[in-house]
Amino acid sequence: MRVTLSVIKADIGSVGGHLAPSAALEAAVRTHVREHANGLVRDLRVHHTGDDIALLFSHERGAGDAQIHELAWNAFVAGTRIAKEQGLYGAGQDLLKDAFSGNVRGMGPAVAEMEFEERPAEPFLFFAADKTDPGAFNLPLYLAFADPMNTPGLLLSSQLGQGFRFVVMDVGYTEGDRVIELVTPEESYELATLLRDNQRYVVESVWSRAKGDQAAIASTSRLHNIAGKYTGKDDPVLLVRAQMHFPATGEIVAPYAIGHFVGGAMRGSHQMPLMPVAQGSPVSFFDGPPIVTCAAYSMHGGRFSESVDAFAHPLWDAVRLRVADKALEMRRQGFFGPAMLPMAELEYTGIAERIERIEKRFQVRAARA
Ligand code: F6R
Ligand code: MG
Ligand code: MG
Repeated sequence: MRVTLSVIKADIGSVGGHLAPSAALEAAVRTHVREHANGLVRDLRVHHTGDDIALLFSHERGAGDAQIHELAWNAFVAGTRIAKEQGLYGAGQDLLKDAFSGNVRGMGPAVAEMEFEERPAEPFLFFAADKTDPGAFNLPLYLAFADPMNTPGLLLSSQLGQGFRFVVMDVGYTEGDRVIELVTPEESYELATLLRDNQRYVVESVWSRAKGDQAAIASTSRLHNIAGKYTGKDDPVLLVRAQMHFPATGEIVAPYAIGHFVGGAMRGSHQMPLMPVAQGSPVSFFDGPPIVTCAAYSMHGGRFSESVDAFAHPLWDAVRLRVADKALEMRRQGFFGPAMLPMAELEYTGIAERIERIEKRFQVRAARA
């Protein structure tokens, strides 16, 4: 069967600042999708990661389907009503438009959708990150799909050994979708050259070269491109199919043990290590550190199994302690150097305004005789 997986997520308000949605908000979203999904979807799940609510649907309607998008939009509107009633912070903040207009793309919520022929066994992973931006997935995707030091399957399996095709988006371009396709292993240096700049170039999707089908899809939206100003971090979602001609689940999750530095955390304006956390973890220290969750599913006939929390295993406790150390260490240097994001990525305008004021006072000293 040809199935479409759709993840649509938004921050529509949270308790105690940017920590987590309230139980009532999540219940309102869940009730709405359950009551209105009849005949539209094969299955659905509601997740939250940090302050973001994500809806996972399986269906047969293809990517970008107006009715699926409308279902998600209306669920977020229902949740926003509760957020306002409860005085939650940032109620409805990712709903940037007043009325739904056929597709949530460009309206605030993040979207990741892929359509494929379902395998007899269909394991897939749903990642969601909070307090960071879509470039956070560049390094883990590069390591999982292009580096045999992380993924021995690239050497051990003749199918994985044929490499992968990456579609990379230039998210600095606002006139439309500016994308490039690169194949590994032949163009892995070209790929690495782009992906190192994770504020500008972002992996959108990955495809198998052995079978031609899609392995991964990430959300790439940047809210400030939509709103013309910063309205919060983009908090990306990612779907990755696992096993057989794709990397194994263990190869896909292994890179998150690095706790690599990503943009985000306090006021969306810092660099902090990405911490893999168990489902339901709120955010805490310094509006961070940025977090990522991973729900592992199996699917048959578009029906989901229960999910396994891929970052709940005790090994990840050791990773979290190390990432916490990295976060604390980076915070010791406050706003200096790489601790804070470069000017163009700052979520607040105070620094730019102050520089503009004091710039005028600079003088070029007369050369000495
Ligand atoms: C993401 C998130 C942050 C905030 C940012 C600024 O979920 O919550 O990126 O948007 O920290 O928020 P304010 O200005 O409301 O503190
Ligand atoms: Mg938020
Ligand atoms: Mg968030």
